[in-house]
Amino acid sequence: MSDSAELILEGKSYTLPIVVGTENEKAIDINSLRAQTGHITIDSGYKNTGATQSAITYLDGELGVLHYRGYSIEQLAAKSNFIEVAYLLIYGKLPTQHELTHFNEQIAKRTLVHENFRTLLSAYPANAHPMGILSSMICSLTAFHPDSLDPNLTDEQVDLNIARLMGKITTIAAWSYKHAVGRPLVYPKKSLDYCSNFLQMMFSDPTENYHVNPVVVDALNKLLILHADHEQNCSTSTVRLVGSSNASLFGSISAGVNALWGPLHGGANQEVIEMLEAIKADGGDSKKYIEKAKDKNDPFRLMGFGHRVYKNFDPRAKIIKAACDNILYNLGVKDPILEIAKQLEEAALTDPYFIERKLYPNVDFYSGIIYKAIGLPKEMFTVMFAIGRLPGWIAQWKEMRENKEPIGRPRQIYTGQTAREYVDIKNR
Ligand code: CMC
Repeated sequence: MSDSAELILEGKSYTLPIVVGTENEKAIDINSLRAQTGHITIDSGYKNTGATQSAITYLDGELGVLHYRGYSIEQLAAKSNFIEVAYLLIYGKLPTQHELTHFNEQIAKRTLVHENFRTLLSAYPANAHPMGILSSMICSLTAFHPDSLDPNLTDEQVDLNIARLMGKITTIAAWSYKHAVGRPLVYPKKSLDYCSNFLQMMFSDPTENYHVNPVVVDALNKLLILHADHEQNCSTSTVRLVGSSNASLFGSISAGVNALWGPLHGGANQEVIEMLEAIKADGGDSKKYIEKAKDKNDPFRLMGFGHRVYKNFDPRAKIIKAACDNILYNLGVKDPILEIAKQLEEAALTDPYFIERKLYPNVDFYSGIIYKAIGLPKEMFTVMFAIGRLPGWIAQWKEMRENKEPIGRPRQIYTGQTAREYVDIKNR
């Protein structure tokens, strides 16, 4: 196997090193390309560009493989819980019992937010999208914890900010929901595990006792694990890029929340449910919508289908589809849109348009149906994705910082006007 690549450019030959990852992924190292040749590369959408070398998540889009720190997503979803997976992603190994207890305690201790957050929240209209609130409130943590702005924090100080963010995100998320429905804000309970605490902040009410349903806790743990990291996607790359300027953890993650919000990324889970509901309201004819998705003159896309890297199947979607039937059965929920989703999937998977383009259901296709069964409004679905993705963003931010990666600054090829003389306004 060659450990270098030869590039012939304008009659001259250049040697570029090859980088090989632990799973035998290969890249041409172009770090010296511009200095040697005067050329840069163009790669719109970064489809062929490795922005970093990372030891966090491995995925093989052709084989449908997804590993966090070497452990398969299937094993983690079946055997672990969200906080253990968060520790694994952030600190690189499965925790001992002592480490896990300590991590849980550090997070639980920091679930309260400053009381002024109530004032901030009260300024938002009730119909404000909770993703906008989440991103603003996470950024606002910099104001309440100005120590987090120091780019030279010790590892202990970074750990403190990690615990703060992991703890406070669920409170902010649940409060944004309570604000939208005009119900009293519910304070976090340290005695509860991470998912149970979130559920009680979302759904408990001072007027009656609330019992956390273990089926829902289990479902939530699974969903959050499946969303916890996905290597260099749009929001994670945003977190790393913002963080590369030495922006704080809170500022970088807030930017990641905004990147996730878009309907082509994490916002797709809300769009999927809206699409399924629209198909139901229109008589449930899934074939009609398959035709719309194929029509290049129609802007409609089958939301929850297709993925930049998975070209066979999305392993997360496979686990979620199986969990979906189970959870709906255990909760005694019969949702007609699950049937529409299955018909749509079947119709798409046998249609040459989708086969040729390797378009399969992605993680967002069935997750919304579970969130809906749990009782979450659809505006909260992408917030759930953000809570799940948080440990991945943190791990990637921390790795970027520990590797002392340079500030991210792509180049461009300029296609505008060449130099010209300024024309006085009266002569234009
Ligand atoms: N419905 C219909 N056609 C599609 C779809 C779709 N959902 N996705 C891709 N295509 C077609 C697209 O029109 C193009 O066709 P052609 O070659 O004839 O021009 C071809 O498939 C390739 O699509 P692309 O847009 O070039 O692929 P991409 O890798 O740039 O985009 C994607 C990936 C996920 C943005 C896209 O598949 C999409 O828009 N899907 C719907 C939104 C969605 O579900 N997003 C969630 C992704 S998973 C969660 C996450 O991690 O973000």
